[in-house]
Amino acid sequence: KNPPIRVAVTGAAGNIGYALLFRIASGQMFGPDQPVALNLIEIEPGMDALKGVAMELDDCAFPLLTEVVQTSDLSEGFKDVDWALLVGSVPRKQGMERADLLGINGKVFVGQGKAINDHAKKSVRVVVVGNPCNTNCLIAMKSAPDIPDEQFFAMTRLDENRAKTQLAQKAGVPVQEVTELCVWGNHSPTMFPDFYNTKISRQKATDVITDEDWLKNTFVPTVGKRGAAIIAARGASSAASAANAVVDTVCDLNTPTRGGFHSVCVLSKGEYDTPAGIITSLPIKVDAVGNWRVVEGIQLNDYAKAQIKASNDELLEERKVAFGQLGLSV
Ligand code: NAI
Repeated sequence: KNPPIRVAVTGAAGNIGYALLFRIASGQMFGPDQPVALNLIEIEPGMDALKGVAMELDDCAFPLLTEVVQTSDLSEGFKDVDWALLVGSVPRKQGMERADLLGINGKVFVGQGKAINDHAKKSVRVVVVGNPCNTNCLIAMKSAPDIPDEQFFAMTRLDENRAKTQLAQKAGVPVQEVTELCVWGNHSPTMFPDFYNTKISRQKATDVITDEDWLKNTFVPTVGKRGAAIIAARGASSAASAANAVVDTVCDLNTPTRGGFHSVCVLSKGEYDTPAGIITSLPIKVDAVGNWRVVEGIQLNDYAKAQIKASNDELLEERKVAFGQLGLSV
């Protein structure tokens, strides 16, 4: 039998945690033959709720789940982990400025980055979900100098999934017919779901959905504002779909990509004229031995370039504000 994969999840007693842990433990993230051990990390006020979640994990009697660690101590929580899924973060409260939020969460991700650096396996892969996820990821990466930069990711797979469904419903096709859809930029309403390079049933999406006005002025904002629309409808932010996207992200990174690509935020080296040194969403592909790379050769028109630039400008600004507050240098 394979040794267990050890997965740390921060914010484990939160909404996304509650939707995510059971899918990891049931085998949906690493496959039906792969045992898993869970390191559940919460802040002190979340520890009681976390105990309840751990009791429910016990009560599922998952054959693949070998161990559940519950802790608010980062050195214990990240000890020897193969994956660190950083879900917990401080939500914006009334009266809090965006800059305050960047600074408060920045400090959290400095601490988590350092603990990952010192205690996780050197091969650890880190996926940041807690918002602002791109900038939080950059801060964690900067704080973990011994872990290669290419092992840090922030999540835009939920945005990709949302975009695919919107196009499938408009075209009247099953969602798996929509392929090669990259969300570019920041995980924020400024993100750009590039419909120009998307395929629907292997045809250009713009040949299937010819209403460009709908694509630009309904589709793009619908995807960008979907998080807010879920909050308005459900009275709580997306949790099950976010957890599902975490499962998808890890599966994408563990599986050779067949055709096409997926969206994930990684450290830019200047690909497609994105500013080097930010964590931004790009189209990536995983090869047969598990290495990922940014897909080359995608043609971006002027409209797409302008949208992507606006989103990346927002990331540069976030970096400036957060690094300023934390005393980090670029
Ligand atoms: P939640 O508020 O239900 O749960 C967050 C949990 O994190 C709480 O239990 C809290 O005690 C814990 N926490 C806070 N600070 C922590 C720390 N320093 N260490 C460990 N745990 C900590 O929030 P929810 O709904 O689970 O969302 C989590 C985050 O994910 C939010 O920042 C949200 O904005 C983000 N998100 C990101 C998405 C994406 O696509 N990237 C999609 C949906 C949500």
